[in-house]
Amino acid sequence: MKSLIDKLEKDSILTKDEFTSLIQNHSDDDELYAAKKARKIADDIYGKEIYIRGLIEFTNYCRNDCYYCGIQRSNKCAERYRLSKEQILLCCEQGYELGYRTFVLQGGEDPFYSDEAIEDIVRSIKSRFSDCAVTLSIGEKEYESYKRFFDAGADRYLLRHETANDEHYRKLHPAELSLEHRKNCLYQLKDIGYQVGCGFMVGSPFQTAETLAEDFLFIHDLKPQMVGIGPFIPHQKTRFADEKAGTLKQTLFLLSLLRIMEKNVLLPATTALATIDPTGREKGILAGANVVMPNLSPVDVRSKYTLYDGKVCTGEEAAECRHCLERRIESVGYHVVISRGDYKLV
Ligand code: 5AD
Ligand code: FES
Repeated sequence: MKSLIDKLEKDSILTKDEFTSLIQNHSDDDELYAAKKARKIADDIYGKEIYIRGLIEFTNYCRNDCYYCGIQRSNKCAERYRLSKEQILLCCEQGYELGYRTFVLQGGEDPFYSDEAIEDIVRSIKSRFSDCAVTLSIGEKEYESYKRFFDAGADRYLLRHETANDEHYRKLHPAELSLEHRKNCLYQLKDIGYQVGCGFMVGSPFQTAETLAEDFLFIHDLKPQMVGIGPFIPHQKTRFADEKAGTLKQTLFLLSLLRIMEKNVLLPATTALATIDPTGREKGILAGANVVMPNLSPVDVRSKYTLYDGKVCTGEEAAECRHCLERRIESVGYHVVISRGDYKLV
């Protein structure tokens, strides 16, 4: 399979059959080979620098019912919360002190926050912290809303596509949600001028090498600036409670392939990866990741934003987590930089 990995490096694309066989039939040795190549590519572009994003999970109310997600609306056990603009700004202030220059506002699809409210939050952050980037991750909206948030100063938008295979998408979501609509949102966001992030869970129920091959083809077509992937982890209050979690090994291999295909892409080592392995983030970096997104939400709400079971870093204060992370990153020969951490073109 080394020749396919070389081909992916050279051409930045493979056919669907080639991706499928590479994902299905690779050896441990191929994983090492891919990780080494991926790390070299990332080092050549981003050096030893790791970008950090302060994640503010500002609401766990959600109008959707994604089958895998712990904050789905039908989970009656979830203890719901919302942060006010003032609370969000406090998180940013604390984050700024700790060296964060990107704030990611993530939440369920919560109609409580009108477009005006989101615009107001974005404007307030951008005027107080003019050297910071604001990333939104608040789901599927109308083009007009996306445009308004962008005009208010939002720089980036994260919306994982979850799977690029239609049939698979329907097995993970209720009928009112469609892959077509989600993909449209991503193309619209790019069109408006956002730096865009898509992504998927590794090892989600019904995922196959073939659906993953389609993810790679979709990502190649969309050309996002970021791709977020992390293992699927079952949540006890969902219908997938008894499904198996995605593995560390497969997540690392797919991270490497993403880096080899989309050389400059911003690639986070996710919290889900740290949750399935105590040094998951460090291993993610060694496989080609160059971003980490620690939590900045107030500690009293942290454990309520549970998309999956066992999530790490829910008890730590922002400062503790920040320093812990720094040590972890240094332990593998990298360092955190105080920077917006924008996508690099060359
Ligand atoms: N395991 C892992 N990741 C999950 N997400 C949602 N539920 C889970 C789960 N059970 C991911 C989705 C979503 C992102 C915010 O979190 O991919 O887009
Ligand atoms: Fe969050 Fe260690 S990285 S506590």
